[in-house]
Amino acid sequence: MRFGYKAWMLSEELKVESGEFFAEEEFRRGIVGFFGEEKFKASFDIDENLPLEGFSVAGGADGLKISGGCESGLLYGAYAALFALKRGEAAEKISISQKPAVEKRILNHWDNGDGSVERGYSGGSLFWRDGKIGYDLPRLRDYARLLASVGINEISVNNVNVRLQTAKLLTDEGLKDLVKVAEVFRPFGIRLIISVHFDSPVWLGGLKTSDPADPKVADFWNAAAARVYGKIPDLAGFLVKADSEFQSGPNAFGHTQDVGANVIAKALKPHGGTLYWRCFIYNCLQDWRDTVTDRPKAAYDTFFPLDGKFDQNVILQVKHGPSDFQVREPNSPLLGALKNTREALEFQIAQEYTGQQKDLYAWAVQWEEILDAPFNEERTTRDLIGKEIEAIVAVSNTGDDENWCGHLMAQANLFAFGRLAYNPALTAKAVTEEWVSLTFGNAAEIHAPIAKMLLDSRHVYEKYNAPLGICWMVCIHHHYGPSPDGYEYMKWGTYHRADTKAIGVDRTRNGTSYTAQYQPFVRDLYENLQTCPQEMLLYFHRLPYDFKLKDGRTMIQYIYDTHFEGVEGVENFITVWESLKGKIPDEAYTHVRERLAMQLENAKEWRDVINSYFYRKCGIPDEKGRTVYV
Ligand code: GCU
Repeated sequence: MRFGYKAWMLSEELKVESGEFFAEEEFRRGIVGFFGEEKFKASFDIDENLPLEGFSVAGGADGLKISGGCESGLLYGAYAALFALKRGEAAEKISISQKPAVEKRILNHWDNGDGSVERGYSGGSLFWRDGKIGYDLPRLRDYARLLASVGINEISVNNVNVRLQTAKLLTDEGLKDLVKVAEVFRPFGIRLIISVHFDSPVWLGGLKTSDPADPKVADFWNAAAARVYGKIPDLAGFLVKADSEFQSGPNAFGHTQDVGANVIAKALKPHGGTLYWRCFIYNCLQDWRDTVTDRPKAAYDTFFPLDGKFDQNVILQVKHGPSDFQVREPNSPLLGALKNTREALEFQIAQEYTGQQKDLYAWAVQWEEILDAPFNEERTTRDLIGKEIEAIVAVSNTGDDENWCGHLMAQANLFAFGRLAYNPALTAKAVTEEWVSLTFGNAAEIHAPIAKMLLDSRHVYEKYNAPLGICWMVCIHHHYGPSPDGYEYMKWGTYHRADTKAIGVDRTRNGTSYTAQYQPFVRDLYENLQTCPQEMLLYFHRLPYDFKLKDGRTMIQYIYDTHFEGVEGVENFITVWESLKGKIPDEAYTHVRERLAMQLENAKEWRDVINSYFYRKCGIPDEKGRTVYV
């Protein structure tokens, strides 16, 4: 088995038959397995006093005592014990007790029926081939183990942009194969979600309309849900992307989002299913000349007035930012704003805008910033989790590449997502160090430099990317590499409006008033140039090139400096990585070294394109006289 495949949980060192054997009495009574050459012993019990999916692990003279609030809790306890052993802790000293912050910890796969993956940078689908469910069974089981080992407990297996092939999951034919996938994941405590198309009543039911107010449409959804739950009784629910990016939805029939959602939610209710309804709705046919419409406002404008109108089994799935998984954006003002509607926080682990698994990028650092961001004067976004925010979701970064994630180091992102979703109080540093230990071992001369590279990677990437939260300076469609005007005159509502004097969109009360969607404390924080976090200045304000930042530098000088520093940061990663040659497995060394070479090219391209672009606009030279192409 090659290094990359083993990920953190699949190493031969952990000779443990976990997962599917957990339910077996014999396993619970006896030896868990081996760690390296050593046997370790454990006893298991379900302790109903523990929180569901919570666990405790206690080391002692008689081996490990693992208790769980349910079977999944036991599983998580066993994995936690294995992680601790692998981190070098003595078995008798292990003492861990945890419970999940949210009940629903979800991965969305954007996998298509033809085996491709939307925004996938790790090969093809793990679930689909040639228009049908198709997979490699041992591999899928390993995948289930990987996900369970970090506490993920629900997954969708088809893209939110549903096409006919995957829409058919609601039919008897489609379900036949999906049942088998459910069987693979079930022993690992992972339930399936199906992404469904809003027009399924027409596509599959032969109806003339998908109008949610039409009783025949309700009948279709009721029958579809009954059919699905007849085959997969523990299905977690359905996921819908409606009225978004050319997907149909209730708007087409003159209804608001609640009307569309509730008809499907009612069908799921008798079976205990949840409807995940995405909030990524905006005008994707905007005229760039229109300076009134402001895309970040769209989700809040659409959903806030509907608070309280959704059925109880609907969870609104909100992207963490109001734009679209950019390297820097504020948190969506919709998060926590709905008092009578359930919400999920959505991240993207796939690095669509953050280097596409060619560039090193540790999401955990950004997620920590997102969780630390204020909701109001008293609470951070982290404080909403487990309360207003009931589920944490991410778009997966996995595929059938041998190493699962395209970039070996991108495994750290999948790992971190699960760990943080289970316990958002963990720091980025802690989860990153944990992944490095489990993957490369604990030797300080290896561990410290790799962990530091990862922890620095988000800021290095941001430095050579779109500056100061401006967003969207990427090449159109595929989203890798710089193109400052790529989206500037397009229909997607993503404009920076740079001219010879200034950059950015004024989103304060003097501009589009987007800031008014935030709680007053946060609104004031972002509106005021003195208190707006520097890295988001251009998200909220339109500023001249010679605007003075707090350290006295002009904005344009800051842009030049950070873009040079970004490339230096990547050069530094290469130096550090080269110092590890011979100390880590060759295969891992060579693979990451190759990715770093690609990253260096990308960083240089960003540096030169962005610096030249702004220099040509404003004509202000770099104070330090470095090369800026004219
Ligand atoms: C982004 C991404 C699309 C995706 C969409 C979504 O816009 O580029 O590929 O479909 O997000 O979240 O639905």
